[in-house]
Amino acid sequence: MRLLGIETSCDETGIAILEKRKGKFRVLANKVSSQIEIHRPYGGVYPSLAKREHLKNLPLVLRKVLNTKYQILNAPDAIAVTVGPGLDPCLWAGIEFAKNLAKQWNVPLIPVNHVEGHLLISLFSQGDEKSEIRPARRSGGNPKSETLFPAIALLVSGGHTQLVLVKQIGQYKILGETRDDAAGECFDKTARILGLSYPGGPAIAAVAAKIRSTRFAKASARRAKSEIRIRLPRPMIHAKDYDFSFSGLKTAVLYDWKSRPEKLRKSKAYIRAMAKEIQQAVIDVLVVKTMRAAQEHGAESIILGGGVAANKELRKQFNSQCAIRNFELRVAPKELCTDNGLMIALAGYFHKPQKRIEAAPDLRLE
Ligand code: KG4
Ligand code: ZN
Repeated sequence: MRLLGIETSCDETGIAILEKRKGKFRVLANKVSSQIEIHRPYGGVYPSLAKREHLKNLPLVLRKVLNTKYQILNAPDAIAVTVGPGLDPCLWAGIEFAKNLAKQWNVPLIPVNHVEGHLLISLFSQGDEKSEIRPARRSGGNPKSETLFPAIALLVSGGHTQLVLVKQIGQYKILGETRDDAAGECFDKTARILGLSYPGGPAIAAVAAKIRSTRFAKASARRAKSEIRIRLPRPMIHAKDYDFSFSGLKTAVLYDWKSRPEKLRKSKAYIRAMAKEIQQAVIDVLVVKTMRAAQEHGAESIILGGGVAANKELRKQFNSQCAIRNFELRVAPKELCTDNGLMIALAGYFHKPQKRIEAAPDLRLE
């Protein structure tokens, strides 16, 4: 069986073909056209502009997908398309395109929740191998159990920050979510304050990584940080619930930035020290709350999904915390953490086709 997945919920136009044969998945094609350069001057995604770009890019990306080394000539068995959550005009661009294709090929349409796509692509991935999509079974660690469930999924992107209890594929309970800004949004907004480019997450990570890890560099970074003295809050880290709040972190960055002389706040030392502290503050909150949720719910594994899960430092720190606590960590390769059509095709395998397909910008995972 072959599924074509279409993703247009935000600023990436993604189309992929995923084949399932004898219980195994094989990626036949996966192409993404990013609009980052177009939205960069605005410091965020501009919905009507994004829709126009999706309409332009969808046929181009499809052509590339059909023209891979597999020369896919036959129609797929079904088309999976993101119906939400996301930006309404962007969702409709993908849905209308999918409907036309479905009519042309005479195949059914499967509506997919974007967040479930992020969750499943990480659940089915192991390590950083791009072409491998494996069964949802434990690979090692705890010999008593082969299962990955219950799992705790942390889904962090530009639009959502959620902790989800995964009892089985398709059985989800949202334990907590952000009350204001998403983790990725926090990176995007604080990067803007520091004069870094959009999207902020990779920009902050790149600047923070410039504080190299030699002993000398570490000492000079510590000196710069202590001279500049930046200590940001870790919002809601000790709260009893599993909710998040990142807007206070953004405000703290803004206050600190405003309190500095112009020469200092434009200096590399300040921007690096601040980028590192922002990244660590976000990571601390995400790690502590996820580990607590996993322990309290007797989780076998932790799933990290969404664009922010591409963050190298976040992956490293989750890796070591999971190793200490004997949770198996599932996280997709970096390039599959950000939006793509493959995660939508994969999620499509777990749902039935529907006749009525409509955009649902506020769709929830439950
Ligand atoms: O999942 P995604 O591609 O789109 C949404 O569904 O929102 O996530 C995009 C978000 C952006 O906020 C971006 O800044 C963040 O993911 N992001 C990162 C990294 N790469 C992307 N955040 C931190 N570190 C990264 N390396
Ligand atoms: Zn996403």
